Parts: sequence; C-alpha cells; structure tokens
Amino acid sequence: MARLKDCLNIEDLRQAASRRAHKMVFDYIDGGADDERTLVNNSRAFDRYDLAFKVLTGVDHIDPSITLLGERLDVPFLCSPAAGNRLFHTEGERAVAKAAADVGTIYALSTLSSVSLEEIAELTDGPKWFQLYVWKDRALVKEMLDRARAAGYTALVLTVDFPITGNRERDPRNGFTIPPTYGVRQAIDAVRAPFWTRDFLLGPPIRYANLSGDTPAVSLNQFVAEQLHAGFDWKDAEWLLGEWNGNAVIKGVVRPDDARRAVELGFDAISISNHGGRQLDHSPAPIDALPAIADEIGSDAELILDGGVRRGTDILKALALGARAVSFARPYLYGLAAGGYAGASRALQIMADAVRRDMALMGIRSVSEIDASFVRTR
Ligand code: GLV
Repeated sequence: MARLKDCLNIEDLRQAASRRAHKMVFDYIDGGADDERTLVNNSRAFDRYDLAFKVLTGVDHIDPSITLLGERLDVPFLCSPAAGNRLFHTEGERAVAKAAADVGTIYALSTLSSVSLEEIAELTDGPKWFQLYVWKDRALVKEMLDRARAAGYTALVLTVDFPITGNRERDPRNGFTIPPTYGVRQAIDAVRAPFWTRDFLLGPPIRYANLSGDTPAVSLNQFVAEQLHAGFDWKDAEWLLGEWNGNAVIKGVVRPDDARRAVELGFDAISISNHGGRQLDHSPAPIDALPAIADEIGSDAELILDGGVRRGTDILKALALGARAVSFARPYLYGLAAGGYAGASRALQIMADAVRRDMALMGIRSVSEIDASFVRTR
C-alpha cells in the first residue's frame, strides 16, 4: 500500500483508498448517479477557467484565512457532511473532526453520522456545523435541533437536493448495503481488502448514532424511504428556520431563483452543490452555476461552492468567481479510507498547502485581494 506521505495529491489518496477499502465501500464514496456525467463534470468544469496571475506583488506573507458566518477560518475551505464514516474507516467522524480542527476549519457533521453529535462536539474545540435532512417526524427534527444547539454547533446546514435518493448504480451492482452484508462476491472482495475487513469485523457495528444508539444503521435507501420527507417545501424550510433561530445554510442549490428565495426566507449562506453528482445526473457543475448566483445574490448571503474541488487552484477559481469558501467531502473521505485520521489529515493538509502555494503564485497575499479579474473563461 502506498504510504500516506507518498500521496502528493487527492488523486493519490483516492488510489490509496481504492487499495485499502473494500470495493463496495470505495465505490460508495467514489460513485455518482446514472452515467456519472455530473460527477465527472464537477471537477472537469474547473478546466474551463484559467487563472490570470499578477506579478511583483510581494508574496512573502500569505494569509489564506477567511470569515464565514462570523467565524474565522484559517483556510478558505470546510468539510462537507458525509454519512456513516465508520464504514470507510473505524476512526470515522472522530478522525475527520480532529483533522478539520487541526487545519483551523469547520467540520459539518452529518445527521447520519456514525458517532453522536455530542461526542464530536466534545472531541475538539474546532468550529462545527450540523447538517440536517428533513424527516417526517417533526418532533424528532426539533429534538435534533435542540441537541445540536446545546452541543455548540454554530450553524445548521439544510440539505435540499435529496428529496429521494439518486440512482447510484455502483451500489446495487456491488450488492452494497448499510450495514454491509456478505455474499460470495463480497467475501472475495473482502480478501482483497484485508485491513479494512479486519477493522470492520473487529470494530463496533455501524449505527446512525444521532438517531438511536441501539438500532443498527439501515440502508440509506431504506432510511430515506421510511424517514425522509419528500414533501418538504419552502413553507417547511421556513418552519425549520424559525425552530433553529440561528445561522443557517441551504445546501444543494444551483439556480439563481432558488438562491434568491432562500435568502428571502432567511438563509445566511447558500451552498451551491449537486451533492457531488450523487443525485440528479446532468445537473450543472457548481463552478458553472456560481457566477449567475453570485450576480443575483451579491452580498445578501455568503456563497459556498461545493463539488469537484481537488486542487488549490479550484478553490481560488471559486473565490474569484464569487464564493466566500468552498467545501468538499470526497478528498477527506479518500484520505480517511486510505488511512484513518492520518489520511484525513493528509488530505486537508494537501489542500491547505496548495491554497497557500497557489495564492503566492497568483500574486495574492490575502483572500480579500481575489476578484473576478483573476479568472478567464477559456
Ligand atoms: C448521502 O448523503 C450520500 O450522498 O450518500
């Protein structure tokens, strides 16, 4: 197995993850919906933009810090929520929360985390957001909001691009379920992933720890079918904002009219995202959706670009086109699957180093100097 220190970029970590994790688990992280056009395009779309760097600006001191919803972050990126991290490595969400705190950024914990929101809150002093899917059971939603508030989560992230689950064909092809079950094929693949298999078999069972400590996790499909409220609409979002009464992010918007409506309703930040190409295939790449949303919203809300980010230059392109920050999950999930806390840390450090280096190469000393003049559409 490649050593983590030999992983120079996110693609190297992806390869390392594909070697360590069970195939069905790697594919769950790596895959997207239908023909995976959006999955691929989310990253590829960055290639349509070039960076016009400035020279002789004196870049001996680089400051990549930003303020996001009133919180100072040491880097212009944060960790997007992702469900059930214990599947990828026994260290799960604990590893990612620590790695995020190390680089001075926000960890957005998923509703469907395998470690409870209280435990994650106690683990680090780093800033934390809480992601919510909206369930049929409003009492449960209210209880979850109270718990997140009491534990010190500073913003709510409402995921809105997930009314039902997208068609991820790698999962049924692999016979992937949560928790994983084994037939002949899965057993053969398990032999090819001995470290993952050992950890998985010896570690605690996978649970959605925020929902019920005792009930084993069910498949995402089953959970969504049983619990998710596909009828959730703008009125319900308004109800939710009233219940939370704090900073709120709407995640999964690609249209300027939806962004405007979200701002009018009271959302403080908009995460431009298509769920990493895992929901509607052929939805636009976030980097392509960003300019029109930035035009519409101006400074009425803070914009986060989520999707396809693999390089420091991707981050800087997004900031130049109007995002205040970017977020991503796969980069740290590849790291986590490749090597637990050390791997997740490696991913975030690669991105932090890249941002500093690319800012210097662009002739930018602080994030406030970035503007549209640095980007050219090819
Ligand atoms: C869950 O949010 C997933 O994309 O699998």
